[in-house]
Amino acid sequence: MVATSNNVLALGVCDYPEHVPASEWKNHAEQQKTLGLQYVRLAEFSWAKIEPSDGIYDWQWLDDAIATYVAQGLKIVMCTPTATPPAWLIQKYPEILAVDAQGQTMKFGSRRHYDHASDIYRQECKRITTLMAQRYGQHADVIGWQTDNELGHEGTAVSYGGASAERFPKWLETRYETLEALNEAWGCAFWSQDYSQWQQICPPNLTAVRQPNPSQALDYQRFCSDMIEEFQQVQIDVLRALSPNRFLTHNFVIFAQEFDLYKVAKNLDFVAWDSYPIGMLEFFATWESEQTKSEFARTGHPDLVSFNHDLYRGIKGGKDFWIMEQQCGHANWAQYNPLPAKGAVQLWTAQAWAHGASSVTYFRWRASHMAQEIMHSGLLQQDGRADRGYQEVKDFDTSQFVLEKVNARVALLHDYNSLWAYNLQPHNKDLNYWHQFMMFYSALRELGVDVDIIHPEQLADKEYALVVAPALTVVTPEIASYLTQCAKNCPIIFGPRTAFRNDSGRVADKGQFQLIEDLVGIKLANFDSLRPTLSQSVEQTETSTEFSAKLWCESYELTGANATHTYLNGPMAGVAAVTNKGNVSVIGALSGSLIKSILKAALGEVGIETFTLPKGMRLSRRGDITLVLNFNLHDVEWEGTTYPGVSFSTLN
Ligand code: GAL
Repeated sequence: MVATSNNVLALGVCDYPEHVPASEWKNHAEQQKTLGLQYVRLAEFSWAKIEPSDGIYDWQWLDDAIATYVAQGLKIVMCTPTATPPAWLIQKYPEILAVDAQGQTMKFGSRRHYDHASDIYRQECKRITTLMAQRYGQHADVIGWQTDNELGHEGTAVSYGGASAERFPKWLETRYETLEALNEAWGCAFWSQDYSQWQQICPPNLTAVRQPNPSQALDYQRFCSDMIEEFQQVQIDVLRALSPNRFLTHNFVIFAQEFDLYKVAKNLDFVAWDSYPIGMLEFFATWESEQTKSEFARTGHPDLVSFNHDLYRGIKGGKDFWIMEQQCGHANWAQYNPLPAKGAVQLWTAQAWAHGASSVTYFRWRASHMAQEIMHSGLLQQDGRADRGYQEVKDFDTSQFVLEKVNARVALLHDYNSLWAYNLQPHNKDLNYWHQFMMFYSALRELGVDVDIIHPEQLADKEYALVVAPALTVVTPEIASYLTQCAKNCPIIFGPRTAFRNDSGRVADKGQFQLIEDLVGIKLANFDSLRPTLSQSVEQTETSTEFSAKLWCESYELTGANATHTYLNGPMAGVAAVTNKGNVSVIGALSGSLIKSILKAALGEVGIETFTLPKGMRLSRRGDITLVLNFNLHDVEWEGTTYPGVSFSTLN
């Protein structure tokens, strides 16, 4: 079902025929064909063009545009246009608008201004999706569908009023059945928060002082995630019925964290995501230096990009994914939007393939003359001349990029309950879930190791040589049993805050590790949230090697494990910082070099080769090919070979 006819990487482009005169379409389609593109993604923001007013339709322009692409042999990826409900629809049903955390109702004039819980909006989406699917669902050249566009992105996953506020108490009643159970789960004894009627419960915004109850906020996040899942399912059901044998996918975003991707992607055929490597540098905001951001300002940082590839490969258990929007020039939405370096578009395309992409679609064909994205680039400039990315795409030879498996032997465990619970109470201004996770991910990538990112449940289906759980702070009895089973024959390394909370976000009666204490053989002694200027020295007992930890340190009391590292100074001096019991180690101190040294030793023990790679240089393997990717602007000498700046090559 994936549109790659000859088992090699396929290329496509996002195009907006509705933005240019119809007289340009033929020329555009001919150029797209010349570039070697195989398909065009269409129509994700086209509702008002298709239905300019209530019940009045204009399909002709889209019929003609499709015919123009098809005449050149291009295939079509069609989108449902539900990310942009038109002005007439908002005027008719203002209640579908979302409400922000300040209690303000969103206004019309941008996109994704709807509340996913709204039944009225779901019905409207069903109606327009049905009409589109009836018209194009069996078109011979429509190969698949994208639902909506970047669900929940830019803070639109959550609405704090309207339909969401109405449905939340009902959702809670289904989850907890009794108010006693809810009051207990949320710890409502604290600050007299007990509820005596379901209807008293509100979304967790505008609470008077400080933060809302974190367990309530955690459930609200889950509720909003479920609303998105249901919202999309309405479209999936229509498309499955009316457009059989076409793929269904969705274009998710960089470091998606607004909803549970494992659930939202469950009924899609494969996942796609939108890759903007340069804008992605903003995700380093709190933890990387301006120096690093400058060094990678024109290529993006290899680990930020590859992390998202690995995340999306793992969402459906190792299936190939698509890049539905690939940056191919400057973007417009980041704080700074430098031009990509020459060669970057090819480098990103090759990297996507190496991490499991079967298709890369460039965003967008021709730069927009109008509205919010005037400052964004395309493969063509606004006046129609080829822009910098055009030639790179033309010169990119896909024939060597065969769609083999990515066979990683190391898994990183990731889940959304841990992400949400961590980020609701980070307890240190400079820390968040991704930051901690990336310290472990980057250490592995710096060692030249390929990794899968998976949900702990997936441990039941696949065996690994090493499992790492960087920030698994919510551990349920089910997760505890997957971990226990896995540790029988595979080493596991945990990061700080492991098993600190249960499913409702509370700490268990017996504190951290309660559900896995036999496994780890420790209890928490103390945790320590450090100011940026503070650090803790950690010593490896056996070799007396010292490491410097920052931001977060935990110390442990031993109940069966050994201490391999202890704190040398500060309030936790002399207490365990890293422990080991059989196959299981726990790292309590955040230090990049400490994490790397422990991972390196563990990889050595399970026979996985590690490398010392120069900064900005990475290895990635797919099938029998190992790519060397150089994200630096300058040439790099490594193991007797010179690798040109901004390049990829095959390691012999
Ligand atoms: C994506 C979005 C596109 C466009 C693009 C600009 O997030 O899906 O519609 O806005 O960003 O970079």
